[in-house]
Amino acid sequence: MNTCRHLAIIMDGNGRWAKAQGKPRTAGHFAGADNVRTIAIAANERGVEYLTIYAFSTENWKRSQEEVGYLMKLPSIFFKKYMQEFLDRGFRIRIIGEMDALPEGTRNVLRDAEIQSEKNTGLTLSIAMNYGSRREITLAARKYAQDVADGKRANDLEESEFDSYLFTADMPPVDLMVRTSGECRISNYLLWQIAYAELEFVPESWPEFTPEVLDRCLKEYSERDRRYGGIKYE
Ligand code: IPE
Ligand code: IPE
Ligand code: MG
Repeated sequence: MNTCRHLAIIMDGNGRWAKAQGKPRTAGHFAGADNVRTIAIAANERGVEYLTIYAFSTENWKRSQEEVGYLMKLPSIFFKKYMQEFLDRGFRIRIIGEMDALPEGTRNVLRDAEIQSEKNTGLTLSIAMNYGSRREITLAARKYAQDVADGKRANDLEESEFDSYLFTADMPPVDLMVRTSGECRISNYLLWQIAYAELEFVPESWPEFTPEVLDRCLKEYSERDRRYGGIKYE
């Protein structure tokens, strides 16, 4: 039986869910944000220690100004509603992604959530905002090169140290990655961190992803045979 310490979710299908109900895409994002609270609580209750959710990718800037504008406002709506509850539950909020490129208001709300919760020791809820894995790895390479150029270290980087240059520094590797809404791709999410993760693609859209669906995912994960390249001798 595997235990899932680190669950990563690609929250996809908000737009299609809204469309199917005759609502604007933004209504899907609103419902999706509410579902982050539901699933964070449920994941915490099921013993997950790290929940890393994909909220906005480096590619999502391609969407309409209206949609991008709404997605940039969502963190403020979300934390106004739920921050106190997260603090009461001991959740630690972390943001992964290039924060500098976010509008100032959005950045401040996200930083504030991180700072308010930094001493908490419960579930780490990491929100990937303006996150792209290739960008993350590129920035890590730059930071490392700078350290070498500055004479802070020799050019002897080990695989195990590379993590410390990523946005996810100090987090354990991803155990399970789930993508909602039926698409079977990774869309530039946590490429380094999922090297040995189990992957699950579920048909439900993100607003339909209930704690029962989470249970189904965790059950399937618990039964997977994680061999890490080895074999079992009977
Ligand atoms: C996921 O839902 C949320 C974000 C990418 C911000 P989508 O907005 O991608 O919804 P679909 O995939 O178009 O239905
Ligand atoms: C991935 O979903 C990004 C987020 C969930 C934030 P997309 O809907 O943007 O991905 P593609 O375009 O289907 O690959
Ligand atoms: Mg999508």
